[in-house]
Amino acid sequence: MKKKQADFKFNAKNLKMAKVIIAKYPEGKQRSATLPLLELAQRQNDNWLPVPVMDYVADFLDLAPIKIYEVVTFYSMFNTEPVGKNFIQVCRTTPCWLRGANEITKACKKKLGIGLGETTKDGKFTVKEVECLGACVNAPMVQINDDYFEDLTADSMGKIIDDLAAGKKIQIGSQAGRQCSAPVEEKV
Ligand code: FES
Repeated sequence: MKKKQADFKFNAKNLKMAKVIIAKYPEGKQRSATLPLLELAQRQNDNWLPVPVMDYVADFLDLAPIKIYEVVTFYSMFNTEPVGKNFIQVCRTTPCWLRGANEITKACKKKLGIGLGETTKDGKFTVKEVECLGACVNAPMVQINDDYFEDLTADSMGKIIDDLAAGKKIQIGSQAGRQCSAPVEEKV
């Protein structure tokens, strides 16, 4: 595994994509491609960015590694540790907090038997708290991998975890049955 990370380089598809992204910016401004390239690298590397992978991206963009470390450690979307197959990010910012985010975090910890930032022994789940994910109108909510789960309760959060653990297909979006962000009282 370590060797693989030390030898990290973009696969053919991502290499092509990285070049397309860099070409969007003026000559000499390749640094602007930092975020999308890190995102590509993270997806290719099981959703986390160890130092050799960050160094590869720095080299790719002809930047000092510190410029990449600064970005990676600032944004919660980047992981500097391995994460589980289902990466649960619980929004804890004010609108979600007022609507019960603490109960959602508690439900995750209780159901999975892990603390924040930890991964279950089977490698299936990691739970973390993050700041606003931009779906405040459907608070409280979590992001699991690329999907949002909204209008949560402790019960619905527990059911989502159970279903994921059982490999069942789960409904993304509102868990209260409302369409997008339509008013709760007026189901459309
Ligand atoms: S506060 Fe939770 S999505 Fe904005």
